[in-house]
Amino acid sequence: MEKYHYIAKTFAGLESILAQELADLGAENVQNLVRGCSFEGNKKLMYRVNYECRTALRVLVVLKTFMVNSERDLYNNLKEMPWENYMDSMGSLAVDAVTFHKVMKHSLYVAQLSKDAIVDRFRDREGRRPSVDLVSPDVRIHVHLSPDECTVALDSSGDPLFKRGYRLGSVDAPINEVLAAGLLALTGWNGEKPLHDPMCGSGTFLIEAAMLATHTPCGKFRSRFDFMKWVDYDDELWQSVQSEADENIQPLTCKISGADASRRAVSMANRNLQHVGFSEQIVVLPKDYFRTTENFEGTIVTNPPYDERMKLDDTAAFYQQMGNIFKNYCAGSEAWLITSNEEAMKSVGLRPSKKIKVFNGKLECRFLKYEMYSGSKKRNE
Ligand SMILES: C[S@@+](CC[C@H](N)C(=O)[O-])C[C@H]1O[C@@H](n2cnc3c(N)ncnc32)[C@H](O)[C@@H]1O
Repeated sequence: MEKYHYIAKTFAGLESILAQELADLGAENVQNLVRGCSFEGNKKLMYRVNYECRTALRVLVVLKTFMVNSERDLYNNLKEMPWENYMDSMGSLAVDAVTFHKVMKHSLYVAQLSKDAIVDRFRDREGRRPSVDLVSPDVRIHVHLSPDECTVALDSSGDPLFKRGYRLGSVDAPINEVLAAGLLALTGWNGEKPLHDPMCGSGTFLIEAAMLATHTPCGKFRSRFDFMKWVDYDDELWQSVQSEADENIQPLTCKISGADASRRAVSMANRNLQHVGFSEQIVVLPKDYFRTTENFEGTIVTNPPYDERMKLDDTAAFYQQMGNIFKNYCAGSEAWLITSNEEAMKSVGLRPSKKIKVFNGKLECRFLKYEMYSGSKKRNE
């Protein structure tokens, strides 16, 4: 099978996790980029990455990289490319452009010129041209201009891969699925210890954890990927990728649980869990974490309110109470929390053993690890 050059995009801070996932899936020559990784492999690998890679946001197929000095260079190079291998003249396309070029400064103009070159090729060869559809094109083309180089790529994913297809509904500030999967990978949780999210909202960490522990492909509940609309789409290969991955699915044997103070969130989490078939094994209860009376030993992963999208009356008191619960009820556990709020981080009252910089959307956050040793609380204070 022919080998291609790909770029998988992810969130800042998850590049190394993505690189490991890609290598595990069989990618060759994996290199970390800013918010992504480049790698090589055949078409089957691209299908696999779309279906199984938990921390990729989208997968681009790099078609051509060339030096570009002028608009003419850009037009001619794009017009020479064999676009008929990916789409036909009856189909639709969209071009997204990003430019850091020394001469061509306007991304909309670059996109327009690139689109003209592609449709002109079709018109010259066949007398008709594909249409432009900016919302749901058959082929979405990425044109990236550095000061003197152009990279042309096809987006094989379409909708970003955090759209897993399992979310029936959501709460006010749900965590992105790809970020949740990346954070779980950063904790090193491997499904052996119980996992609990005491502020689980719509249940994203619980579902991502369950999918991880059961080896359920993250694309299992999603029906559309853009590579399915390409002229070279190989349905037999896609079916085999799905069945090979699905064969590894195992029953959920570890304990995963969630809670939330909001009844609406609990009911949403339960609906989402039911949709993915984990509602029998994963219990989510309406509980105010600050009224905890039972001990927990295992891994806590949670995304509390930061006083940004979800407001808090007293941020310091909120996080202090969390720290107190960790200290008093979670001996022998490790607790991981993500927050963008610096006052919050200082108020937990425990020294984090890890502080990892990640981004939740535009918010720069820290993913903090607290270790509560059994029998010697003093070490944490
Ligand atoms: C940022 S949201 C979590 C979103 C979640 N990660 C998701 O993906 O949907 C924070 C959650 O904390 C819950 N919460 C706030 N205070 C709480 C408390 N004292 N005990 C339990 N849950 C609480 C809120 O109801 C909200 O659902």
